[in-house]
Amino acid sequence: MAERLDKILSRTGHWSRKEARELVRTGRVTVNGATAADESAKYDPVSLILTVNGKMVVTDRLFYLMLHKPAGLLSATEDSRQKTVLDLLPEHLRRVGLFPVGRLDKDTEGLLLLTNDGPLAHRLLAPGKHVDKIYYVRVDGALAPEDVLAFRSGMTLGDGLACLPAGLEILDPPDTGYVTLREGKFHQVKRMMAARGKPVRYLKRISMGNLTLDHDLAPGTWRFLSAEEISALTGSENGT
Ligand code: URA
Repeated sequence: MAERLDKILSRTGHWSRKEARELVRTGRVTVNGATAADESAKYDPVSLILTVNGKMVVTDRLFYLMLHKPAGLLSATEDSRQKTVLDLLPEHLRRVGLFPVGRLDKDTEGLLLLTNDGPLAHRLLAPGKHVDKIYYVRVDGALAPEDVLAFRSGMTLGDGLACLPAGLEILDPPDTGYVTLREGKFHQVKRMMAARGKPVRYLKRISMGNLTLDHDLAPGTWRFLSAEEISALTGSENGT
C-alpha cells in the first residue's frame, strides 16, 4: 500500500516526521535513484530503494521486543489519560508502529511481546491457534487438587464462558501456582480463580508459546528478541 515518503522514513525509527520532512526538503533523500523533491509523494515501501545522506535505508523493518510489564500501565498503544506500555520505550521506537500482542490487565505483570509485525500477531492470537500462556498466580486461600481437576476438565463460568481445559500446578506455599491457558479471554485467570472461590491477588505472565520472560529483565524494562527467539515464536504458531 502506498504511503507518504515522510511517513515511510519516520517508521524506520531513525527520524521523526518533522526530521524526515526536513531531510527531503534539504535534498538529502533519494528515491529509486533520484533526489526526492516532495515529502508527501506516495510510494509502496516494499519496493522502494531509499537513501538518506547517500546511505541505503531499510524500510518497513519489523521489530520484536520482550517487555517486562510492571503493574499500573495499560497494554495499549495510546490512552488520553493513562500511561501505556509504549511509554516505557525510547522516543524513536514509539514511531515504528509497535503494539502489544495480546493484553495484560493493568494490574498484571510479566511478559509482553511488542511488535509491528501484524501478520505474526494475528496468527499468534487467532482463536484456533491456542498458543500456551503460563501465568504465576497468588490467590486468597489455598489451591487444592480439586482446583487442578476443575481447570483440567474445562470450566464453564457462572456468566456462561466455557473455558478450554487449562493447566494448574500448585506450588509451595499452596496459595501460589502456575496456570497454563491455551486461550486468552478477558480477565480469564481471575475469572477462573474467582469461580473456584480463590480470588487472584497477584498475576504475572511467565511465557507465551516458546517465549519465556527473561529473569534478568527488571519490571519496566525491555530488550529486542534474538533471531532464535523470533524463529521459535514463529514455531509457536504451529501449536494446535
Ligand atoms: N488473565 C487475567 O485475568 N488477567 C490477565 O492480565 C491475563 C490473564
